[in-house]
Amino acid sequence: MSPRVGGAVGERDAESSRVASRDAGLAVRVRRGLPEDAEGIATLLSAVSRESPFLGAVGISPSVEHLRVLLRPGETRIVVVVAASAEAPSRVVGYAHAVAGLASTMRHVGTVAVAVDAAFRGQGIGTRLLKRLVDEGQKLGWVRLRASVWANNAGSRRLFEQVGFRQDARIPEQLMDQDGRLVDEIVYGYRLRGAVQAR
Ligand SMILES: CC(C)(COP(=O)(O)OP(=O)(O)OC[C@H]1O[C@@H](n2cnc3c(N)ncnc32)[C@H](O)[C@@H]1OP(=O)(O)O)[C@@H](O)C(=O)NCCC(=O)NCCS
Repeated sequence: MSPRVGGAVGERDAESSRVASRDAGLAVRVRRGLPEDAEGIATLLSAVSRESPFLGAVGISPSVEHLRVLLRPGETRIVVVVAASAEAPSRVVGYAHAVAGLASTMRHVGTVAVAVDAAFRGQGIGTRLLKRLVDEGQKLGWVRLRASVWANNAGSRRLFEQVGFRQDARIPEQLMDQDGRLVDEIVYGYRLRGAVQAR
């Protein structure tokens, strides 16, 4: 596996790190998503959705219209972060979002989804995106992040666990893949520093 490229959070995450890829040594920067990233994100998500069913359960749509809604400036219920080429900012190689609940009872919980271009995996980009979401969730005063992961998605499970997410539940046969096979859903949670007390 190629050398890892960070896992840094906050300021350091805004810096570029050079990662190995088909494009040989692309400098990748993790930053907040911008409206002009919509096409680049749609291209990435379409490719990842064709390759695996794993985005199917987490509510990411590759449609540019849907993404423009998520990327609206001033949005406080939705956080989007991207890993993009430092030289060609429209080249998006990683994406993550967290969306807080609409109902007042769920506004403290951000639901997370993440995807990295297959050519750039295993180099710490998913980790950097997720740590950035943790930072952004803290800033917004949220209390929890949660994520729904297919039980047979080893890469995603390892990613969430090594960032500090805990397995909160395993729901048997909750998901069905394209071949009609039933797969358990793992629900991961991460406790942020929010002030709300559980009752
Ligand atoms: C899951 C995903 C985002 C991981 O991105 P990534 O950039 O490769 O993640 P990282 O390089 O930060 O790796 C994180 C950890 O997972 C491990 N890992 C990554 N892919 C793995 C795999 N296929 N099998 C086992 N472990 C894997 C890494 O080794 C690392 O662990 P380590 O720190 O102990 O070495 C990426 O594989 C992906 O986009 N998959 C398809 C979409 C998806 O499943 N999204 C999740 C739905 S919410």
